[in-house]
Amino acid sequence: MRNTDFRIVAFIAALFFKFSCAEKEITDLTKESLIPIPVSVTATGSSFELNENSAIYISGDSEELIGIGEYLADILRPSTGYNLPVNSTSQAPSSGNIYINLEGDEVLLGNEGYDLTITEDLITLSADQPAGLFYAVQTLRQLLPAKVENNGKQEGPWKISTGNIIDYPNYTYRGSMLDVGRHFFGVEDVKRYIDLIAAFKMNVFHLGLTNDQGWRIEIKSWPKLAEIGGSTEVGGGEAGFYTQEDYKEIVQYAAERYITVVPEFDMPGHTNAALASYPELNCDGKARDLYTGIEVGFSTLCTDKEITYEFLDDVIGEIAAITPGPYFHIGGDESHVTPMEDYKPFIARAEEIVHKHGKSVIGWDEIAHAELDPGSIAQVWARAENGKMAVDQGCKLILSPANKTYLDMQYDSTTQLGLHWAAYVEIDSSYIWDPAKLYPGIGKENILGIEAPLWTETITNMEEIEYMVFPRLPGIAEIAWSPASLRDWETYKVRLGKFASRFDNMDINYYASKQIPWVTDSDSLKTSN
Ligand code: ACM
Repeated sequence: MRNTDFRIVAFIAALFFKFSCAEKEITDLTKESLIPIPVSVTATGSSFELNENSAIYISGDSEELIGIGEYLADILRPSTGYNLPVNSTSQAPSSGNIYINLEGDEVLLGNEGYDLTITEDLITLSADQPAGLFYAVQTLRQLLPAKVENNGKQEGPWKISTGNIIDYPNYTYRGSMLDVGRHFFGVEDVKRYIDLIAAFKMNVFHLGLTNDQGWRIEIKSWPKLAEIGGSTEVGGGEAGFYTQEDYKEIVQYAAERYITVVPEFDMPGHTNAALASYPELNCDGKARDLYTGIEVGFSTLCTDKEITYEFLDDVIGEIAAITPGPYFHIGGDESHVTPMEDYKPFIARAEEIVHKHGKSVIGWDEIAHAELDPGSIAQVWARAENGKMAVDQGCKLILSPANKTYLDMQYDSTTQLGLHWAAYVEIDSSYIWDPAKLYPGIGKENILGIEAPLWTETITNMEEIEYMVFPRLPGIAEIAWSPASLRDWETYKVRLGKFASRFDNMDINYYASKQIPWVTDSDSLKTSN
């Protein structure tokens, strides 16, 4: 070969090598930004690419698994523009597809864990129970480019790093509360809220249905509760309520996302809307005026009138009958005008009525003053000593410390929405804590889970909800899901920063805290060019 021929051949070989290497870029699944951080991630260095012929295959023909496949397809179809049919199969599918099965390890994965394996050929989601598959889908979403969340068609490629993820939750109860009493939010807003918490593997939606300012659900045997009690909200003006059909729709929507709805009827305080609707619920027999301010602690049901317990029986009975979940939240907080000698027997009777209707009680930490059934659960928001009293009665706790988890707390003194009676709660402050070490004498064995409540005295629409909830909720979800040993603020804030484009594509109006090194897809293009 002449020298120039040799140089031409070498040049072509080098070009070929360069392009084949470019196609086979090396990936690292362990470097992907996932929230909550999974229990274990192993990388194998290559990638899977979704294409226009990809399909989702379900092992067997269970309706429930087909539902999970369709849920995944509904996320992927708009942005990829691919058909992604959902098919039943009796064996692992061919190359380029997604495979969903219930062949995961029961002992390792439990009720909610999953095993997600990505090879160059196939994405396999395995679990022992369907909920685990649903959480595998949430992880898969986060492994795809952020634009997968967009509602309009986007350009590919739709590549995913290969490797394996084994993951399961640290706490059983992982929730968020929305207060629809202070301001009313319609069914569509509630569904979006449920979608947003589901994306971070939360499994409880606590719906605060009543408060001084509003009664938000139809009670057929006491119709004026919704008609009068639901007519206004904080600041005045018209508000609303859910019909029982609306509520069933919310419960069903949540169930399809492996979320249990916990309805709350706050009592004996926070009841002005009921007291305005029915004069007989007041000790003096006189209806109260509707209330549109934001003070607390001034109202109480009349604890020594028998009609009060008939009212509880009717309300709890009607709603328990359309609530498939095991819990009924009776509030019990801030009953400042109910003397303790009346409060304690009231809570005991409310607990009895909840049991009669087949549910277990959850109540804010003050209920620990009453004699509780050990199956009841105290939700600690203010006082650790109340939590300890509940534990001493054999009860489990849900932790919602206001200075960490209350999503209505302002981020700092410049935040326009929200309140700050518990604290200003920046992202680091809501993330850096360990439930099992927060209170002396309360350990992991006493804690059922964690919940982040959003009270809505100052929140009037979905945009405002999102601004207060994001980005604190993903951090609380991580505290509830991931082992404490894997959580670290310095690495968490980098992971969270990489969610900027994902939040944008999900159309989430988030607070762009200066604590977080936000990186959008356009920033990463800038740095790689
Ligand atoms: C509460 O924040 N009053 C439970």
